[in-house]
Amino acid sequence: MRTIDNSVIKIDEPKEAQFDVSKVRQDFSILTSKSNKKQLVYLDNAASTQKPNQVIDEISSFYKTGYANIHRGVYELSQKATEKFEKTRLKVQQFINAKEAKEIIFVKGTTEATNLIASTYARKFLDPGDEILISTMEHHANIVPWQLACEEAGAILRVAPISDKGEILLEDFKKALGPKTRLVAIAHVSNVLGTINPIAEIIKIAHDFEVPVFVDGAQAAPHFKVDVQELDCDFYAFSGHKLYGPTGIGILYGKKSWLEVMPPYQSGGDMISSVSFRNTQFKEIPYKFEAGTPHIAGVIGLGSAINYLERIGLENISAYEKDLFSYATQEISAVPGVQIIGEAHKRTGVISFLVDEVHAHDVGTILGQEGISIRAGHHCAQPLMERFGLTATARASFGLYNTREEVALLVRALYKVREVFG
Ligand code: ALA
Repeated sequence: MRTIDNSVIKIDEPKEAQFDVSKVRQDFSILTSKSNKKQLVYLDNAASTQKPNQVIDEISSFYKTGYANIHRGVYELSQKATEKFEKTRLKVQQFINAKEAKEIIFVKGTTEATNLIASTYARKFLDPGDEILISTMEHHANIVPWQLACEEAGAILRVAPISDKGEILLEDFKKALGPKTRLVAIAHVSNVLGTINPIAEIIKIAHDFEVPVFVDGAQAAPHFKVDVQELDCDFYAFSGHKLYGPTGIGILYGKKSWLEVMPPYQSGGDMISSVSFRNTQFKEIPYKFEAGTPHIAGVIGLGSAINYLERIGLENISAYEKDLFSYATQEISAVPGVQIIGEAHKRTGVISFLVDEVHAHDVGTILGQEGISIRAGHHCAQPLMERFGLTATARASFGLYNTREEVALLVRALYKVREVFG
């Protein structure tokens, strides 16, 4: 057991000896339910993951016995809620190996984290003619906030290209950096292609140009250990709801040196140290960025989700998912008429595919009738779709509770799609 900050909190939960998917599945009551009178096969984990009973119970118990507003009350219930809330900040710090707990900001999710940086960093550091560099494979949430920030500042949004396999072209990326680049914003893992970007290398290249890097880690954090100090990223964001935790809560990590010089995002209660009609003093980080009553139960639930993952062991989860992912890739690509989009050397979590000429929504609908939940459409990444000359794909995405049997059911349903559409 390890403790941090002399806190009594036990950060390292004892790990399970071995990854046992049938045991894991027992923690997710929803997985025993039916969909369209068929056994539910949930393969939309890149959109959002299901929640283990431990997380649901923790939230419920917090509301039943421990709920009060935080940071404000002098009474016991509020103080205990505050303690639980702040201990979760320490837990997150340890989860991503941030240097200090004050570098962890609670936000609504990855989208809000991106908007926070786009509003505050950009407000402070972007001048007319400056540039922000993203890549072709970004989610809309890592495109549109930068478009708006650039528009406001008179700056330019540049886009690093990707290969036909769905990999960042590092030489082109390097060429796109220059003296005017103020920030790189890039996904750790693509939500459409599953590509794991060589993020440490990308950060190193950007830093050689003295350019800070924001990493959208929404599709990475659920699948493997993220170490922000090792990556040396300047900002890193992920969402609770894709990490087996509640919706409406997410994390923005930022290096202290950046957060301290950035202006506040939203303003109001809890982020000030004093207010008068003449002027207002803001609190230190992270509170400067956390205006208003936060999603307290969401934070508690996120802490519980992290405990859950740490008890199983992220390395066990990664190893299990890696095996399942290569099995699924092999099985899905063996179905006649099926084409997988994205063949990056390193991939995780997500398989996007086409079935003959059938529209992705029709694929999704037929799979849905078979009890199989996948996402179909542009996956909030229209420029990436355009890069591949597509408007939509079907996308199966995997989590720690999926099985080879579920892959087999998916494959059987894909044959059905072909049968229906001749
Ligand atoms: N970003 C989520 C997805 O890719 C919603 O489905």
